[in-house]
Amino acid sequence: MEKVVVVDFGSQYAHLIARRIRELRVYSEIIPYSAAKDVLDGEGIRGIVLSGGPRSVCEEGSPKIDRDFLESALSRGIPILGICYGHQLLAYVMGGRVERGPRGEYGISKLEVLEEDEIFRGLPRVQEVWMSHRDLVVELPDGFEVLASTECCAIAAYKCESAPMYGVQFHPEVVHTRYGKEILRNFLYSICGCSGNWVVEDLALRKMEEIRERAGEGNVLMAASGGVDSTTAAYLIGKALGFDRIHLVVIDTGLLREGEAEGAAEMLRRLGFSNVHLVDASDLFLERLRGITDPEEKRRVIASTYVEVLMAKARELEELYGDFRYLGQGTIYPDRIESGRAGSGSAKIKSHHNVVLSEALGLELLEPLLDLYKDEVRRLARSLGLPEEVIKRHPFPGPGLAIRIVGEVTREKLDVLRRVDRIVEEEMKKSGYYDKVWQAFPVLLPFKTVGVMGDERTYRYAVALRIVVSEDAMTAEFAKLPWELLEKISSRIVNEVLEVNRVLYDLTNKPPATIEFE
Ligand code: XMP
Repeated sequence: MEKVVVVDFGSQYAHLIARRIRELRVYSEIIPYSAAKDVLDGEGIRGIVLSGGPRSVCEEGSPKIDRDFLESALSRGIPILGICYGHQLLAYVMGGRVERGPRGEYGISKLEVLEEDEIFRGLPRVQEVWMSHRDLVVELPDGFEVLASTECCAIAAYKCESAPMYGVQFHPEVVHTRYGKEILRNFLYSICGCSGNWVVEDLALRKMEEIRERAGEGNVLMAASGGVDSTTAAYLIGKALGFDRIHLVVIDTGLLREGEAEGAAEMLRRLGFSNVHLVDASDLFLERLRGITDPEEKRRVIASTYVEVLMAKARELEELYGDFRYLGQGTIYPDRIESGRAGSGSAKIKSHHNVVLSEALGLELLEPLLDLYKDEVRRLARSLGLPEEVIKRHPFPGPGLAIRIVGEVTREKLDVLRRVDRIVEEEMKKSGYYDKVWQAFPVLLPFKTVGVMGDERTYRYAVALRIVVSEDAMTAEFAKLPWELLEKISSRIVNEVLEVNRVLYDLTNKPPATIEFE
């Protein structure tokens, strides 16, 4: 299978580059710069993109690749494109000079193309590009030529005259670069010679074959939530191995939304899974969470209780059906990066609990979605014929409502939040905005405020509404919803949920805030 590798130098944009390449129907993977060497031996590599990054190539100890690597790629006929830090690094390693600029260049700039070249083929001579840099390439290596400039940056794009090696200081992967996608397309198709035949369904078929080969016999255990990731993963495993070999355990943690656990179990049965086990562990979770206010502590307690409950259920099922050999999981590409398994710059931000799970149970993992982004999982789910309600469902975090109640989690607060949550979801769906946003949910705040109802003074909970648009949850913007809709949601909440008298709207983006409050 042809693919283009994105070498990550610690940029949050590395994912965006890979996504854009995949949107252009070429399979793309991210690898940390420290593992770049090994990649050249892989099969089907058609191109290499060096990502941006927060460091300066002039700094000692900043991430680098060596000239051997570049030459070895070129000798195998693999073209290279450096973006931002990658653009500077490429020039630097090949013998050019990089310096700290007098001031940075951030935001939209006008790029002027000076030399006709394949990479800008079919595009206007002057175009808007997105810049975010301080360092500059001030002198090109021998045998390189400038292709384009901006006012602040004389060498905004270059190429090597004798080999397919390109650098662009701007970010073609960002939507603000007007012709970014076309520039990437030119790189992939004209320069790398990709055929662009990748579709997500091919990957799914390969994964199913792989699973069939690997998991000859033995049963599969899988915790299911009814969310699109776990449902799609279970369905693929079921199709590969037979639906009777997989046991789905739906755990009601008491931290789910109204009717969610029963709803999930029913839906899974309707899909054809014959072994769906619903476990009510809500009392245990609540008891364990008593008195805990620290977010990470909540996550730890929930994760370990979850594993405990799942293990107990697994033992019980093993008595009846024989030992489990495999653990199925709906882990997707960004989960793997965020939890630090892909190495490199992306820090371990939160302890995602499915990673903890596999380690505790000591079963062999089956993770058919490990290479996919959320929108690709949705596309795959649709092609498999899974129900629209599953496909369009917003992501819901493993620790559930516990991380949407700031402070201690109690039965009373959960009950209040559930009723508010139902109103938010109903109104978002009724208005058609549910499908246009990434997530929309209320958060119960740890204080009460004064209000007035009729002639009476009230002192009740405040809730915050968190409604964001996002492509993959790595970054997000608060949704600019019509005031009328927000007013409707707010007035329904304070009228129908007596314990609440104030509704706030969260106006922060990610970064600097996260999507969840805890
Ligand atoms: P943050 O809050 O980090 O969330 O901006 C990014 C996305 O991940 C979801 N999320 C989680 N999902 N277990 C999960 O399965 C978790 O512990 C967890 N924490 C956050 C969040 O809902 C958002 O979609």
